[in-house]
Amino acid sequence: MAQFIGRKILRYDEVQSTNDVAREFAEAGEPEGLVISAEYQRAGRGRLGRRWTVPHGTSIQLSVLLRPRLRIAKAQQITQCAGLAVAQTLRTEYDLTPTLKWPNDVLLNGKKCSGILCETSFEDTALAYVILGIGLNVNYTMRDYPDLSHHATTIFDELGHGVNRDELEHALIANLDDYYARWGQGTSFLEEYREALGMLGAAVRVVTPTGVLQGIARDVDADGALILEVDQTSVRLLAGDVSILK
Ligand code: BTN
Repeated sequence: MAQFIGRKILRYDEVQSTNDVAREFAEAGEPEGLVISAEYQRAGRGRLGRRWTVPHGTSIQLSVLLRPRLRIAKAQQITQCAGLAVAQTLRTEYDLTPTLKWPNDVLLNGKKCSGILCETSFEDTALAYVILGIGLNVNYTMRDYPDLSHHATTIFDELGHGVNRDELEHALIANLDDYYARWGQGTSFLEEYREALGMLGAAVRVVTPTGVLQGIARDVDADGALILEVDQTSVRLLAGDVSILK
């Protein structure tokens, strides 16, 4: 039984972005737990200003409205919980072995199958609400997208067959609800998140909003920052795109 997330689910055929629809409900005073899902997004957003476009009726694209009581820096923990919930769903539903890539990607066999876009809104300095947007590539093949197929994948590609999206969405929402409820009760998922990251100790290249860095991914701290060792100095990164160097 849904405690918060999924107490109300609104399904759309086509929207600009599920995050935008969820934001409209948030601004109108909707309580937390609302899920907006769509078969197609005309202007789906990814992190760092990128687009998120998947074929109509193939995948999971949803946004959750949350109103957590927490200080600003902790909002990153919601993204971590969501990544863990997606990974848990892929493990328990399909026996897949996902890893996470900082800050918010879920990978299967080293390729991205899911991304998370967490958008926050403040009233003065207090967090008013969070829109947690999740995209998960499901019933299509990256063979049709050769320019993406070297770094992105779908559940179809990993299993060799399609899956029931309703069951998948149901399981995902239940796992999100479970992680969010435990997080709200004070459980820390930092250790679980560190273990799920497939990149700690690895040599990485990080494209940040201010430049490119190369070093060893050493850790993720309690506020979700990546600790990168560059020339024996620790650098703390709050945003960026990581590639693992072979
Ligand atoms: C990323 O990896 O860059 C984040 C991708 C997030 C995509 C999801 S799909 C549902 C929600 N609505 C959006 O416009 N974006 C998120």
